[in-house]
Amino acid sequence: MKLCMIGTGYVGLVSGVCFSDLGNDVICVDKDLDKIQLLQNGKVPIYEPGLSELVVKNYKNKRLKFSNDLKKSVIESDIIFICVGTPTKKGSSSADLAQVYNVAKEISKSINKYKIIVTKSTVPVTTGDEIEKLLAMKLKKFYKKKIKIINFP
Ligand SMILES: NC(=O)c1ccc[n+]([C@@H]2O[C@H](COP(=O)([O-])OP(=O)(O)OC[C@H]3O[C@@H](n4cnc5c(N)ncnc54)[C@H](O)[C@@H]3O)[C@@H](O)[C@H]2O)c1
Repeated sequence: MKLCMIGTGYVGLVSGVCFSDLGNDVICVDKDLDKIQLLQNGKVPIYEPGLSELVVKNYKNKRLKFSNDLKKSVIESDIIFICVGTPTKKGSSSADLAQVYNVAKEISKSINKYKIIVTKSTVPVTTGDEIEKLLAMKLKKFYKKKIKIINFP
């Protein structure tokens, strides 16, 4: 399977690397170019025992790629995992979902065929419905037939 992790932080990087080690083709995308360049040079920006070895192994095998080109990565993938941050809003106890919704809008611009979109970020109930609406706005003709939203805790 061709997978795309959008957000190459603790969750996106670790999950993406493990999926690639299981034999999938994975593109880890991040808007932080420094992070992407570090990973392309075999350096891991977080501490996670054993991760560096898996990054180097799967990058060399060409099952693991790192990119800051979200559009191209979405087009090339079958399953897209949203793994961006959901920090607590200032002065409130609720989550700021702006990054998740921005990514959903970006994905909607690039869907070219059947895709499965998985919300891996920690989000409150009903966020999947909002993501579905954002995707459906741009993709009315594919709606129901080509969009499936899974909340993956
Ligand atoms: N860290 C954990 O152990 C953990 C565990 C369970 C759930 N979660 C949840 O998973 C989500 C991600 O957490 P994390 O710790 O990996 O966050 P993180 O901040 O380490 O990584 C998020 C990444 O997303 C990138 N990003 C943001 N907007 C982007 C965009 N438009 N395009 C491309 N990349 C973009 C950021 O540059 C960053 O590298 C959060 O919702 C968090 O609550 C985290």
